[in-house]
Amino acid sequence: MSFLLFLFAGRYLTHQKGLPCLPVPPLQQTCERYLAALEPIVEADEVKRTKGLLEEFQRAGGLGERLQRGLEKRASKTENWLSQWWVQVAYLDYRLPVVVHSSPGLVLPRMNFSDKKGQIRFAAKLIAGVLDFKTMIDNETLPVEYLGGKPLCMNQYYEVLSSCRIPGLKRDSVVNHAKSSRPPKHITIVHNFQFFVLDVYNSDGTPLTADQLCIQLERICNASTNSNSEPVGILTTQHRDSWGKAYLNLIKDKTNKESVLAIQRSIFTLCLDGAMPRVSNELYRSCAAIQMLHGGGSQWNSGNRWFDKTLQFIVGEDGACGANYEHAPAEGPPIVALIDHVVEYTRKPEMVRSPMVPLPMPRKLDFHITPDIKKDIEEAKNSMNTVMVFGHFGKNFPKAHKMSPDAFIQMALQLAYYRMYQHCCATYESASLRMFRLGRTDTIRSASRASAAFVRAFDDASKQKVDLMEKAVKAHRSYTNMAISGQAIDRHLLGLKMQAVEENLSVPDVLKDAAYTKALHYRLSTSQVPSQTDCVMCFGPVVPNGYGVCYNPMNDHINFAVSAFNSCKETSAAQLAQAVVDALLDMRTLLEQTPRAKL
Ligand code: COA
Repeated sequence: MSFLLFLFAGRYLTHQKGLPCLPVPPLQQTCERYLAALEPIVEADEVKRTKGLLEEFQRAGGLGERLQRGLEKRASKTENWLSQWWVQVAYLDYRLPVVVHSSPGLVLPRMNFSDKKGQIRFAAKLIAGVLDFKTMIDNETLPVEYLGGKPLCMNQYYEVLSSCRIPGLKRDSVVNHAKSSRPPKHITIVHNFQFFVLDVYNSDGTPLTADQLCIQLERICNASTNSNSEPVGILTTQHRDSWGKAYLNLIKDKTNKESVLAIQRSIFTLCLDGAMPRVSNELYRSCAAIQMLHGGGSQWNSGNRWFDKTLQFIVGEDGACGANYEHAPAEGPPIVALIDHVVEYTRKPEMVRSPMVPLPMPRKLDFHITPDIKKDIEEAKNSMNTVMVFGHFGKNFPKAHKMSPDAFIQMALQLAYYRMYQHCCATYESASLRMFRLGRTDTIRSASRASAAFVRAFDDASKQKVDLMEKAVKAHRSYTNMAISGQAIDRHLLGLKMQAVEENLSVPDVLKDAAYTKALHYRLSTSQVPSQTDCVMCFGPVVPNGYGVCYNPMNDHINFAVSAFNSCKETSAAQLAQAVVDALLDMRTLLEQTPRAKL
């Protein structure tokens, strides 16, 4: 083992050092592109006002130039001028609950078991699969990923295991114990709201086999048959300010503090869930999406979680399987790559022989629940949000028509939304910045001049729709290229704002006006998370009257998860999902009816 470590140590760093640094885009370019992005989503007089503010901002010797210089200086001194700010603003300073608002869920296909024994057996294999993946992380033998032929930053893989978010009174933080001098050797299991520490390595350093893990999980389940325990984990579903306060209260007690630390330090958490409401096969995926996204509410499995934990695998008794992850350390693709590996691993026949050594009993984590903590738990139970998640299949042949599949799907989303609301809205699609060292994401603004022209014309028989569709798809793909090469506008504008704060200067007027607020009010928050496994990730809307749309385009179908808050009268996940299906089908019909020569 140590020989391997010696062999590969440094491989990761060498790769990382070879990656380019994220550039700071030219100021004038961002200002021009920002103005163009506003056109389809705000009124003409607001565009005019912003134009004036931008002129003032860009004046020679003005605030824009000064902030740009500051940013360029920062870029020359740091590995990535943006990432730390981004994690802070987008995640750690964000005070809404991580559940639904920030942490994605991942729904895997239903597994082939339907009782406790099957659940335990599968969970044991899953754990063994994650440990197998972890060996590649530890040995730095993970294959480098590529996007458009360019190697990607692999840092996020080193951030997802043995890490946890810690609530604060005003700002949260993330700790990563993988980098400590004594990296953890245990995972945490939660069953019937009770947490256990499970050591997953033998004394010789080899990981426990699936058979050994199975025995340990059985012991845990037998020690926690009672479901009357206080669901301490439900506290992690709260608004971050409330949880920050409750956290201080909780860890005042020494036992509680040790228990919380054991969860935070653990490699990951595995949730052995109790039954969820029984539903038809048709509704199964939607129900599982709810289970993965938020546990179904306090009466079901929401207390069977520690939502601050970066990575939680979830296995139900009925074959339900998936994950939930805390977003601050990583985007979906590395999580999905890990899960693809685990699913593949669980399908292999068990070959490894288990050493015949008795294993210590997994340790139950105790919590002393004072009346104050009990009150916090009751409050957390009442404030759980509900979402309606809709998952279904679509058909997709844009490649055959020489169109980017992602752009095609995004235009279907634009069309679906326009048909429901008769206007275009600010739309967010995440674009990977992993071509750059420590890169995270920028925004692809899917609502463009070209998309607006396309959706407005689509239901008008007199218009040349195919040309408009082609232009819209192309415009989206070129925005994507611009975003993944570090030339999009949103993170640059954020950077200019942060630079102003850093230098104690006033925030530029153009970043305080109504148009900017509207531009950031993403009623459509979307993301593509592709995978080998036939699964779908899901996340909640980012504004109260918005939608969260995650999709996984497979060769012959597309998995969608659409969410909206039930509490909002203006939105309906089921209606948008149906509108997306209609839009995709109508766009396909349009393409099929148009002679190829015309395209
Ligand atoms: N004709 C034929 N084929 C085309 C085409 C065209 N005009 N344009 C693209 N394609 C092909 C591509 O070559 C690619 O082929 P492959 O399946 O063999 O790899 C495939 O279609 C998919 O391309 P496309 O649909 O354009 O999307 P993409 O894979 O380039 O992804 C993004 C686009 C924006 C999703 C990607 O760049 C990205 O940033 N992903 C990360 C997003 C993220 O982080 N999400 C998680 C947030 S939690």
